[in-house]
Amino acid sequence: MSVRHAYDRWAASYDTNRNLTRDTDAAAVRRALAGRRIARAVEAGCGTGKNTPFYASLAEHLLSLDFSEAMLARARASVRDAHVEFRQHDLAEPWPVAPGSVDLVAFDLVLEHFDGLDGVLGEAARACRPGATLWISELHPMKQMQGSQARFATPDGREELVAAYVHHASDFVRAATAAGFALRTLDEWWHESEARDVVPRLLTLEFLRGG
Ligand SMILES: C[S@@+](CC[C@H](N)C(=O)[O-])C[C@H]1O[C@@H](n2cnc3c(N)ncnc32)[C@H](O)[C@@H]1O
Repeated sequence: MSVRHAYDRWAASYDTNRNLTRDTDAAAVRRALAGRRIARAVEAGCGTGKNTPFYASLAEHLLSLDFSEAMLARARASVRDAHVEFRQHDLAEPWPVAPGSVDLVAFDLVLEHFDGLDGVLGEAARACRPGATLWISELHPMKQMQGSQARFATPDGREELVAAYVHHASDFVRAATAAGFALRTLDEWWHESEARDVVPRLLTLEFLRGG
């Protein structure tokens, strides 16, 4: 099953399934980026809009992109702010954004679905103005290597895995640096219910676009 088709099927239960990774990401991005004030942001792979109200609170204009129409339909239904624009778009294709026009590009739990990072991070770099922020939050690669993967239960009770690839911290840093970003922070996160003596659940990286 393609990633797009999988998310079209997952959309109905994405917000209500037990999903500690989704919830850890929601907490992490709010802690890491709170208080920023920017003009234009792109939320790359917005899904059902879990983080859209938060990004909308930072930016004067937010473009939220996703290729799953079913995920987007949920986001559109829950976020109706005039300064938020939703568009169905495959992030592997050139983005509908003017070069150098964006102050923040955010990927939350999206890049694991990309086999290679160079093309998509190159497109993020093209969109960003000098000094802009690139935010990446991903299921931790060590967690992936322990068998964690995006998955959902179908209405008939089967479990579907969504195709995913392992990217190590150094892969993100190498690809983002090659695209023109410099690393600002790297963090690891656990769900609030987890002790820190287990593998971290989430890896986050914040980069700044060079000029
Ligand atoms: C795990 S969900 C995360 C959604 C949201 N960012 C969040 O944190 O809840 C991954 C999202 O990425 C989207 N996605 C994956 N690959 C994509 C691509 N090539 N182009 C656009 N969207 C993509 C999926 O449709 C899905 O909505």
